[in-house]
Amino acid sequence: MRTSAFFSLVAAAFSVNAVPQLEKRAAPVIDDTTILNYALTLEHLENAFYTGGLAKFDEAAFVECGLPVWARGRFVEVGEHEKTHVQLLQTALGSAATKPCNYSFPYNDAKSFAALSQVLEGVGTSAYTGAAQFITSKAVLTTAASILATEARHASWIGSAVNKGPGWSGAFDVPLSLNEVFTLAAAFITSCPSTNPQLPVKAFPSLAFSSPAPGKQSTLTFNATGTSSSTPLFVSFFTGLSQEFAPLKNGKVTIPGDLLGTVYAVVTTNGTMADDSNIVAGPAVLSFPFNSDGNLISQ
Ligand SMILES: *[C@@H]1O[C@H](CO)[C@@H](O)[C@H](O)[C@H]1NC(C)=O
Ligand SMILES: *[C@@H]1O[C@H](CO)[C@@H](O)[C@H](O)[C@H]1NC(C)=O
Ligand SMILES: *[C@@H]1O[C@H](CO)[C@@H](O)[C@H](O)[C@H]1NC(C)=O
Repeated sequence: MRTSAFFSLVAAAFSVNAVPQLEKRAAPVIDDTTILNYALTLEHLENAFYTGGLAKFDEAAFVECGLPVWARGRFVEVGEHEKTHVQLLQTALGSAATKPCNYSFPYNDAKSFAALSQVLEGVGTSAYTGAAQFITSKAVLTTAASILATEARHASWIGSAVNKGPGWSGAFDVPLSLNEVFTLAAAFITSCPSTNPQLPVKAFPSLAFSSPAPGKQSTLTFNATGTSSSTPLFVSFFTGLSQEFAPLKNGKVTIPGDLLGTVYAVVTTNGTMADDSNIVAGPAVLSFPFNSDGNLISQ
């Protein structure tokens, strides 16, 4: 059982939380300003990730970890793209623009920096994919699509050229909801300016898997406060545009054997359709890299 230390901070910083009676309120208005600030929240995080990581790891640090020396220069380019996305969104939002928070990223060498970079770019791609439906202005939609494509190129380049795995997970990327993305982002946010606009998002309790592998049993760690012990729980695995389900029994799940690439997993009370109304914990990001023959690369 665990929840993230930042959860209470997040609950304090954002107006919506998991208290049931609040769910009866009218759904918050998600207008283009809200979506742009949601995007800016993520771009600030990515910008801080590259600025901090590249200040820490020089070319020698990349080579020490077995990463190609030229990879650092490409990461500098990726970081500049994220900075440019921040500037564009700030310009579009003017005085309504949300400000950067303080962050804590769990990397300790260039290799774990590169691994986390792949996760962040993948989440960024899924965030823009999932949020597209809320954008009303065609001009904003075109700009968002252009950023989405760039985030996907970053994820592909890092996954293949740097981390030597596949550059994609399949024919489709996973669209993630605002709350699902915020749950993942909140894991890296330690504190935010109190003057930041309140976004209509909440973080679900965090979820962790022990040694996840397709076809294998894994033990889950999460804070299930709010669900009765008699409620049947399931794990939903988001893969492309589909969800696969497996029952959660005594805190353990057998991971479906056919999963490949990046998969997002949540604990849910619904065994056929996981969404924000029934998620208990997560998402967790699972990575099952595969060879060009379609076989899993053993970790
Ligand atoms: C679980 O989450 C609840 C609600 O957010 C919180 O009050 C509680 O302290 C958490 N429990 C643990 C063990 O973290
Ligand atoms: C970020 O951390 C610094 C140093 O601990 C602190 O002074 C500042 O107030 C924090 N900023 C926010 C927005 O929480
Ligand atoms: C699960 O979700 C589906 C689709 O929203 C719904 O029709 C079904 O009743 C739900 N099942 C449970 C047990 O809540």
